[in-house]
Amino acid sequence: MCGIVGAVSERDVQGILLEGLRRLEYRGYDSAGMAVLDGKSAVQRAREVGKVESLAAAIEASPLSGHLGIAHTRWATHGEPSQLNAHPHMSGDRLAIVHNGIIENYQELREELKADGFEFTSQTDTEVVVHLIEKNYRELGKLYDAVKTAVTRLRGAYALAVVHADEPEHMVVCREGSPLVIGVGIGENFIASDQLALLPVTDRFMFLEEGDLADIRRDSIEIHDREGALVDRAVSRFEHSADAAEKGEYRHYMLKEIHEQPRVIKATMEGRVTDSRVLEQALGIEAGELLQDVRHVQIIACGTSYHAGMVARYWIEDLAGVPCSVEVASEFRYRKHVIQKDTLFLCISQSGETADTLAALRQAKKAGFRAALAICNVPGSSLVRESDLVIMTQAGPEIGVASTKAFTTQLTALLIFSLALARKNGLSAEREADIVKALHLVPGQVSDVLALEGEIAEMSERFVEKNHALFLGRGSQFPVAMEGALKLKEISYIHAEAYPAGELKHGPLALVDSEMPVITVAPNNSMAEKLKSNLEEVRARGGELFVFADRAANVKPEENIHVVQLPEVHEITAPIVYTVPLQLLSYHVAVLKGTDVDQPRNLAKSVTVE
Ligand code: AGP
Repeated sequence: MCGIVGAVSERDVQGILLEGLRRLEYRGYDSAGMAVLDGKSAVQRAREVGKVESLAAAIEASPLSGHLGIAHTRWATHGEPSQLNAHPHMSGDRLAIVHNGIIENYQELREELKADGFEFTSQTDTEVVVHLIEKNYRELGKLYDAVKTAVTRLRGAYALAVVHADEPEHMVVCREGSPLVIGVGIGENFIASDQLALLPVTDRFMFLEEGDLADIRRDSIEIHDREGALVDRAVSRFEHSADAAEKGEYRHYMLKEIHEQPRVIKATMEGRVTDSRVLEQALGIEAGELLQDVRHVQIIACGTSYHAGMVARYWIEDLAGVPCSVEVASEFRYRKHVIQKDTLFLCISQSGETADTLAALRQAKKAGFRAALAICNVPGSSLVRESDLVIMTQAGPEIGVASTKAFTTQLTALLIFSLALARKNGLSAEREADIVKALHLVPGQVSDVLALEGEIAEMSERFVEKNHALFLGRGSQFPVAMEGALKLKEISYIHAEAYPAGELKHGPLALVDSEMPVITVAPNNSMAEKLKSNLEEVRARGGELFVFADRAANVKPEENIHVVQLPEVHEITAPIVYTVPLQLLSYHVAVLKGTDVDQPRNLAKSVTVE
């Protein structure tokens, strides 16, 4: 939720930290701060409310200077966005800390530390951690030991980076439930919540495991696991080019990411499908044997990833004939559930660090299932490490908070998985070949849809003054409508709801009038005729319809019916293609409304807290 970055080097670290924060801003952006040590004086600290650029301006006016530093960009959980609540937090003037996560027992610790004489200046849960470390430091005299002892008292999720002015040659970091990566340099080392933050300085990374505690110096990295054993964590190279995280010619990351979809969908197919069939080995060596045993699929995810799971349910039940349940992680984790032994537990997550999804997986492990499959976009993420099978989407870094290319690559991976499972369950070679051929056409069809951007941008002008919108779809297009509604509300702040079109007459039709735009995804499929009757119901109530349909669906533009004609697509692959015009529509509405497209209010890219 928040982003942390740290550096220990021979050179001045202020610029490295600031660039790291800019790259982490997608994780939180209500305030930012930095603490730097020069080995001579006390901790130098700067904190500002607002985006990283406010901090940059403050630092430009009065620079910090030193070879060791930590920095933070915040997404408020405990306490409003304010300078006092911004990180780094300090105890006295020599100890500083940055934290990503939530300390659940902070109230209890706060009372205890107050009784010990510590004074609190913020409303955050983090401040208890820094005072707790200070208390231990006074007794133990070593920062590493003080952090090690302090974390035994913490309940909740945290990634921490800690520095002390009396030990200016190192920082101590640890993780439990929140991501933390170490960037390995030459004669300098770094830490961050996400590799992207460190791409300007290194492409070699070590991922900390849950419970790890590490001592990071210029020329050494020492990691101990939860049991205190000295451990090696493998160094891996970052797979995507550094400029994958740049905006390039585009005005927003979101627009760039929408336009990257033909390429990344293709990349997600690469090595996993031939001309006519899926390669199940590409899902993992054990995939063949494992899929044979699967009698039920339980999908867990949040937000956009949940919508991908909703589409996959149609594919899994239709193609494989295997029962499939889909649930949002935040609900699943807090109810009693029955998981059969032959269940494949499928978690979908762009980041692989979503707290609810990880918690659901960990809980389900206790209940027992055949295996866990992750569909994820971030190599080395917690989800990837904790799953038996992994299908990596090849979307590359997704920076815009509103998920776009992650969704369509998730769908691509899910369709490949569904076909592999279906083959074990009697899908004919002909049907498989027919769908795989259709999948190969998707990148081109998405490019064709992107070419309609001008038309869609023009259409978006009709939404600027609206306060509400309804999205309709039927069958596997219903989750596409849900995703369309999520995109619109997320970045344009227009209230939007999605309904399966057949549900309209059971309630939402009451909302339809000339002020309620109704957006419909209507490919010519087995549900087309029924959907058209639903559209008539809307028209008859004076509603204004915006229909995305192919020629064969035969929806004619008339007064109050605006039609964008999409390419003809296979019914199975249509959800991937029909998602794209809805992304473009939301994007252009948001641009016209002047909202912050890449960093919409109140949201963060990676929800690593509950
Ligand atoms: C989508 O636009 C959102 N940013 C959000 O719903 C997101 O999909 C959700 O938080 C899940 O994230 P994940 O895929 O990284 O687990």
